[in-house]
Amino acid sequence: MTRNIAFLLSIILAFSAIAVRAAEKTVTISTKDIQLVYKVDKGNKLRQCYFGESINDNAQHVQVTKHDAYPTFGTSYVNEPALRAVHADGNTSTELVYVSHKTEQTGDGIEHTEIELRDSYFPFDVTLCFNAYYKENVIEAWTVIKHSEKKPVMLYNYASSHLFFQEKKYFLTQFYGEWADEMHMTEMQLTRGIKSLESKLGVRSNQHAHACFFLGLDAPAQEDAGRVVGGTLAWPGSFNLTFDVDNLDNLHVICGINSFAGQYQLAKGEVFETPKMLYSYSSNGTGDVTRNFHRWAKKYGIWRGDRTRTTLLNNWEATYFNFNEEILSKIIGDAADMGFELFLLDDGWFGEKYPRNNDDAGLGDWMVNRKKLPNGIGYLVEEATRNGIKFGIWLEPEMVNPRSELYEKHPDWVITQPNREIDLSRNQLILDLCNPKVQDYVFSVVDNTLKENPGIAYVKWDCNRFVTNSGSFFLSADKQSHLWIEYVRGLYSVFERVRANHPEVSIMLCSGGGGRIDYASLRYFDEFWISDNTDAYNRIFIQWGTTQFFPAMALASHVSTSPNHQTGRITPLKFRFDVAMSAKLGMDVQPMNMTPEEKEFSKNAIKEYYTFREIVQHGDLYRLLSPYTNPRTAMMYVSEDQNDAVVFTYLLEKVINGGNNQVLYLKGLDPNKTYRLNELNKEPNKWSWFNNLEGKSFTGEYLMKYGIRFPMYNQFESKIIRLTAE
Ligand code: GLA
Repeated sequence: MTRNIAFLLSIILAFSAIAVRAAEKTVTISTKDIQLVYKVDKGNKLRQCYFGESINDNAQHVQVTKHDAYPTFGTSYVNEPALRAVHADGNTSTELVYVSHKTEQTGDGIEHTEIELRDSYFPFDVTLCFNAYYKENVIEAWTVIKHSEKKPVMLYNYASSHLFFQEKKYFLTQFYGEWADEMHMTEMQLTRGIKSLESKLGVRSNQHAHACFFLGLDAPAQEDAGRVVGGTLAWPGSFNLTFDVDNLDNLHVICGINSFAGQYQLAKGEVFETPKMLYSYSSNGTGDVTRNFHRWAKKYGIWRGDRTRTTLLNNWEATYFNFNEEILSKIIGDAADMGFELFLLDDGWFGEKYPRNNDDAGLGDWMVNRKKLPNGIGYLVEEATRNGIKFGIWLEPEMVNPRSELYEKHPDWVITQPNREIDLSRNQLILDLCNPKVQDYVFSVVDNTLKENPGIAYVKWDCNRFVTNSGSFFLSADKQSHLWIEYVRGLYSVFERVRANHPEVSIMLCSGGGGRIDYASLRYFDEFWISDNTDAYNRIFIQWGTTQFFPAMALASHVSTSPNHQTGRITPLKFRFDVAMSAKLGMDVQPMNMTPEEKEFSKNAIKEYYTFREIVQHGDLYRLLSPYTNPRTAMMYVSEDQNDAVVFTYLLEKVINGGNNQVLYLKGLDPNKTYRLNELNKEPNKWSWFNNLEGKSFTGEYLMKYGIRFPMYNQFESKIIRLTAE
């Protein structure tokens, strides 16, 4: 008997899961500093009662709001339900009641909670799931839906999560953009009614909007003060983040897949899992929220987030489609000579019958163009190796040009509607990843390229268009609306297989610039290309927005030529380097067109980058002066041990009288340490006002309270300042 009890206990402990029946009615999801609290009311309904800074004793929550944790159509008093289902018998309403919950440790510092809800009449189950990352202060929220009704249930809305807030005012920061103009930020006060941030593009879904937001509670979000919620959806498809201020000024935040034209027929027994919505919160402003996401991403959200990223030279803006073996060999030599660690061969190396010499042919035919590259890719890999650098290659495996052998063979492999003209964008169509045969093909493109050319260390995975004519020849007529979800499932399965076979290859996520940046894809990718706009001035804004949620270690930032190819802007080479070096440094220039002075400057800059890239890539980001509100902008990275820091500052407008004297109040330093200041990436023989501070030492306290003060005069003047604890 005693042995049996011990056995039972050991099982319970082994799984460290404690299922709690209705007796215990509070569910607390907590990290080090934040808490999400639910309570079950007398009617057995689950209500959200708190989301914010941790409260020591949660048993004190006596008031239970009337707001459902996961509002459903028909029975919840909301404008916008998290769930709308039509049951097998035609009933359009759902009423969820609490069944049980359990919490278990699923990893070091990760607590997983599941709250089981069930319809009061139908055998229809909804489980609210959470992962709480203790140290990083990030909570993942998602939902699992299943049923055992006699016939399929149609899901019309299926949000990942719903959060409820009871404040006087709400300030929403959204992230929006366009090709070559990604990740702008703007803040607005929410008024009564619904504001939706959404994409219906299916693929390349971030082209116009990003599934990220900040929410300032009661006041606009500030960098270092105020209560701020940050959220981002881990999903590369269409998304919807809805903010609904109701008739009593409560705010409902409903986030998940965009279910527009995407009703989902859920079969009996089938498990439907929504993507994860990531939240963080701070009572000390957006800076903290950003650092929470970055720390989380480096540990859990990005492929090998603990590794230092390599520098590279990419030939896209250097040659576009116009290259051959000789030109590339020369670039490889120059890249190595300048100190880059990798050469990345971009678009245009493939296609036999339809050579890829511009963007209207060849996509889908991943055999080497022997006219351009008679000795194949292998030769270039060897050429790179001979020069002591690595080799990377561009692929766009999900896409096809109608002018290709692939399309001739498989016209039914593309996303399009029958009886409609095919609708081209950048002269191409999307391969239908709902179809397992297409998944096999797309996987084989990547797998074969890597297997046939051993030594390829890097892949740039591109994806240059979004969905129109959303039809699948593979899905049955009654399941055409599943395309949006099945595509992403197919994509994940390809990502999985690629990673299983090629864990050591670095892969860049690219989508005509930043059209696909999300924490579901980044689990498989080392870095991302945020914009085809390489103008350093524009990049300051684009990178400012991007790094609110995604860390600089993964943000590829390239020095390109001047005048810039996208904007025509002329900027100094130092400025271009100083901007690119604030993230993951690369270059998109034909070295042949550089002067010996420019090459020399680049060589030194790259060498210098290696002395501080660990701080940029692995340190904490502190924003000092926003480009949105200051002519001079600045930010800094601080190493975890607070012994090293690097400050970047840029002047965006010329100031004639006395220069721009904005003080840089540093952040994140140890007040008790003394730091020596040195300028990095200096221009030879150029005097600057910073010289007065060069080599001097100050305490962290002084640098944070008095700051660094020196004027800057010229437009596009920039400085990188290294701080070293003594
Ligand atoms: C996309 C990418 C670019 C480049 C081109 C090649 O636009 O964003 O960086 O690779 O495709 O066609």
